[in-house]
Amino acid sequence: MRDFLRARRSIRRFKAEPVPDSVIQDLLATATFAPSAHNRQPWRFAVVATPTARQRLGAALTAKMRADMRAEGAPADEIETRVSRSLCRIDEAPALILLSRDVTDVRVDTPEEAVMGAQSVALASLQLLLAAHAAGLGANWICWPLYAQTETRLALDLPDTWEPQGMVVIGHPDEEPKEKTLKPLEALTVYR
Ligand SMILES: Cc1cc2nc3c(=O)[nH]c(=O)nc-3n(C[C@H](O)[C@H](O)[C@H](O)COP(=O)(O)O)c2cc1C
Repeated sequence: MRDFLRARRSIRRFKAEPVPDSVIQDLLATATFAPSAHNRQPWRFAVVATPTARQRLGAALTAKMRADMRAEGAPADEIETRVSRSLCRIDEAPALILLSRDVTDVRVDTPEEAVMGAQSVALASLQLLLAAHAAGLGANWICWPLYAQTETRLALDLPDTWEPQGMVVIGHPDEEPKEKTLKPLEALTVYR
């Protein structure tokens, strides 16, 4: 288990081979075993299964990205390079799952509880990444929907109470991730 946990990596390139829905269902079921604040289980999943949904999501995210980058004064060629590179991630993902927080699934409506809800969804996301790893699949969390929460919700026709947090792409790995350097534990930890 220790080695398994240490071997998980973000996978961004996938073989064209599809991931059967039965596998996706199993991974999502495992994700729901994650801990959550007050056991509220505020995570919600949208499996972006149809080409139309994928296209709508891509269009919404890229429109918002273009608008944001234009507002920041980015040059047009830089905007288009970034847009097409980002869109590839959606187009090429064998499976694509949007993770949201249901804003009404909190014990009380306070900023702290909202953070705990988002933390809970993040734990479900990690559990999803680990479940994919356990199934011999690769996966990667993409934060893009966080920058376009309303647009994402509208594009996928999700309930008003769903607050998109991120999306996870999953597929059969087609890359060996580069070795990563970890910050030394001593620099991250204090004993008091
Ligand atoms: C909150 C969060 C947001 C992330 N957003 C992105 C993203 O938008 N695009 C991407 O390629 N990777 C994204 N990642 C993956 C990180 O880049 C990756 O986890 C990190 O570089 C460490 O690599 P590893 O996952 O292989 O250990 C995200 C990870 C987290 C936890």
